[in-house]
Amino acid sequence: MKYHIVTYGCQMNVHESEKIAGLLRSAGYSEEAPVEEADIVVFNTCCIRENAENHAFGNIGALKKLKRQKKGMLIAVGGCMAQEAGKAELLVRKFPFIDIVFGTHNVAELPSLIERKRREKKVVSLLPDRAATEDGAEAYRTSYPNAWVNITYGCNNFCTYCIVPYVRGREKSRSADRIIEEVRALVAAGYKEITLLGQNVNSYRDGETDFPALLDRVASVDGKFRVRFMTSHPKDFSARLVEVMKKHDKICNLLHLPAQSGSSRILSLMNRRYTREQYLEKVALLRREIPEAEITTDLIVGFPTETEEDFAGTLSLVEEADFSSAFTFVYSPRTGTKAATMEGQIPEEVSKERIARLIGRVNENTRRKSERYVGKTIEILCEDFDAKKGLYLGREPLGRMGYFASAENCVGKFVQMKVTRANGVSLYGELI
Ligand code: SAH
Ligand code: SF4
Ligand code: F3S
Repeated sequence: MKYHIVTYGCQMNVHESEKIAGLLRSAGYSEEAPVEEADIVVFNTCCIRENAENHAFGNIGALKKLKRQKKGMLIAVGGCMAQEAGKAELLVRKFPFIDIVFGTHNVAELPSLIERKRREKKVVSLLPDRAATEDGAEAYRTSYPNAWVNITYGCNNFCTYCIVPYVRGREKSRSADRIIEEVRALVAAGYKEITLLGQNVNSYRDGETDFPALLDRVASVDGKFRVRFMTSHPKDFSARLVEVMKKHDKICNLLHLPAQSGSSRILSLMNRRYTREQYLEKVALLRREIPEAEITTDLIVGFPTETEEDFAGTLSLVEEADFSSAFTFVYSPRTGTKAATMEGQIPEEVSKERIARLIGRVNENTRRKSERYVGKTIEILCEDFDAKKGLYLGREPLGRMGYFASAENCVGKFVQMKVTRANGVSLYGELI
């Protein structure tokens, strides 16, 4: 039997889909296949912004005809949107052909839900937030040479725009020993990059072990591999973390530090618990200790009451913090969050115009910073072959994608590339 998984949203979900694949394989679905050939199709959804939901709605709806032709095909919908208040009911009402709806707290039960579906008409199983931090699912990994490793689940921060705490539950940290065990096994299996995942890795805690201590242990595992981590909440980014980054060559000096806004007034309304000045202090701390470090970020435009002056603060932050790249988003009201009922919602035309200007500014910065690479030699961890370009690709430690030609298969290897040309975040060059 064959399976097909459609994933939306963040790295957390990408890794969860690897666990879903592992579970399906243990339940007898031994092969991945295109949707038309699949015996089960799983949608692993996201609800961070309205367009993420619309995307999933559209794709699920598009299966109606196929499901009519292939009665035996199962359709399961899980992930953050399924867990969102009222959405499961809406999903089965809108798409009566869905067989199974499962939540973010019971992914591991998917095989038993499939079993139940053989006896019942429709299976909807959403559990409230549970304390379990080991979901018991062995991931079927597809991201070699990188391996994702969860360190925390959920979030306690309740940024006023964000739905994650509602659909992922309260923050829980995994046991440090279990994490180290997993990292050791992955490195022994040949993975060359470990990316630690959490909504806010900096608030990790297992007894005496906080995030800097955990990172120190992870980077002390023997072997040649890189360590990355995401996401860092600026309020908890500390000098001790910088110390650990400095201590280990394995830890990439790339920090994803979502600023969200460059206006202290908006940051306060967002409940981010830092000001523009405090954010820039963290940036300065990192650059003082590790001058070559790069910072990427997330920025939201059009948060309720955002004025042109607030927005100008976000624009100027791009240069002041000198981001190497940024994910930019138009604020999307999420039912149940505090910001959704705030006065002063910003008209779409205004947000669209602002985000266009912001993207322009970010791209300019990215281009300027990438051009400095021309002529330099960088270490690339080769990830894949781009058949269209006829080139191998992989990332350098600071996150840029490098493209190069090679006669032999380089995937999973560290190679030295001399940069001959830069284009946005991409670098092109020759192996040396
Ligand atoms: N835990 C991470 C981010 C998770 S969500 C952190 O705290 O940084 C990824 C990004 O989506 C956020 O950083 C934010 O920029 C964006 N985002 C979250 N909710 C949003 C909303 N309602 N509208 C627009 N963007 C949003
Ligand atoms: Fe959402 Fe804020 Fe938690 Fe990030 S820290 S997941 S933005 S509530
Ligand atoms: Fe990630 Fe989307 Fe959920 S961003 S945590 S998949 S709401």
